[in-house]
Amino acid sequence: MDKLVIEGQHRLSGSVMVSGSKNAALAIMAAALLPESGTTTIKRVPDLRDVHTLSNLLRIVGAKVNFNDHTLTINSESVSHFEAPYELVKKMRASIYVLGPLLSRFGQATVSLPGGCAFGPRPVDLHIDAMKKLGASIEIQDGYIIAKAKQGRLTGATIHFKTTSVGATGNTLMAAVLANGVTKLFNAAIEPEIIALCDFLVKMGAKIKGIGTKHLEIEGVEKLHAIEFANIFDRIEASTLLAAAAITSGKITLTEVDPSELNTVLIKLKQAGCTIETHETSIHLTSPKKLKATNIDAKPYPNFPTDMQAQWIALMTQADGSSKIVDHVYLERFNHVPELNRLGAGIEVKKNVATLKGPTNLSGAKVMSTDLRASASLILAGLAAKGTTEVLRVYHLDRGYEKIEQKLRQLGAKIERVKYNEFE
Ligand code: UD1
Repeated sequence: MDKLVIEGQHRLSGSVMVSGSKNAALAIMAAALLPESGTTTIKRVPDLRDVHTLSNLLRIVGAKVNFNDHTLTINSESVSHFEAPYELVKKMRASIYVLGPLLSRFGQATVSLPGGCAFGPRPVDLHIDAMKKLGASIEIQDGYIIAKAKQGRLTGATIHFKTTSVGATGNTLMAAVLANGVTKLFNAAIEPEIIALCDFLVKMGAKIKGIGTKHLEIEGVEKLHAIEFANIFDRIEASTLLAAAAITSGKITLTEVDPSELNTVLIKLKQAGCTIETHETSIHLTSPKKLKATNIDAKPYPNFPTDMQAQWIALMTQADGSSKIVDHVYLERFNHVPELNRLGAGIEVKKNVATLKGPTNLSGAKVMSTDLRASASLILAGLAAKGTTEVLRVYHLDRGYEKIEQKLRQLGAKIERVKYNEFE
């Protein structure tokens, strides 16, 4: 296994290029199952474990997938097996994304139920209900969702999501684009990753109105065609790097980003005392002498992202005053807190609210990653801590951050990846 060994208290400075978005790439890759012919090319795909997992799943259903130097090609002409097995779905919940496109193009799909995850229950009821509304019969058997479209093709429907869900919006979009008739989605997610998926589908020939709003209207078409598409940047990686600069009193520039997609995070960083300068495709952050405690409420886009909640808590350990961090999306997503407390953070959690008083003197220790963003939060704390911090089980991190230690090293951090045997 790999661990990251961090010598803390080195100021970050310099410039770094942000990778392509993991979450947009996963949705778009699944959507590449839709065209009957041709090869789809997706550029700026991050080289991550989740991308490899989904590539393998696409190969299992019969697609030809090639991944080279951040360019992914997918040919779905010979897709003929409509099942996503438990072995892959358990590794990555986003595997559920193949449900919509398979059902839409072939009228059938069998997908393992993903189950819970490290930060609590993560149901897929909204995905299932939406497929039913589009005319699919759904049976749950031996842990699998078995979906069949009546008469082999889905039919347009009106769907009101009771909770805003990125995954359910994406899956329903992919199901509706080849359905017979018009589908209306209310309370749809408006995350940039959903907009990227819509742009991708429209370029393939889909008819979607209301892109970027909570009300989408999709007129089903007979066929979609293979295209070339450039993925968007990863706003969570970008935000994590900005927080890394802020926690080390650093000064950095991010390139190849769209600052408008980071609005809420940038506002919060400014409230915390950082000076932010944005240009068309870059962001420059200068840390203050002293960070100020800043509360956040993690909610669906355009609010502060739940995927940055753990990193924000780490940042606030170095801010002056009391801060309150509330996660309204995943109420139990606080596995990072006991580990941060091992470094000396003094965070309290009650229900979905974390409170802490900074600044605290963190001191290096061995800590364990429990999930993707928790790992990032521990790295940030390690960058600020006195002495050496070892972040164990970084395979979680490798699901979603491409070569983060190289990027941080490039900015002046003292961080190394080291192999270890967990049972020694
Ligand atoms: C996506 C992101 C993930 C991010 C999350 C919230 C991907 C691959 N993952 O996950 O990084 O943390 O959005 O921004 O894009 N819910 C239900 N029933 C459902 C589906 C969701 O109750 O059928 C609930 C969830 O438990 C959660 C909320 O809806 O409380 C939002 O979840 P959702 O947006 O669906 O998250 P994902 O798409 O799984």
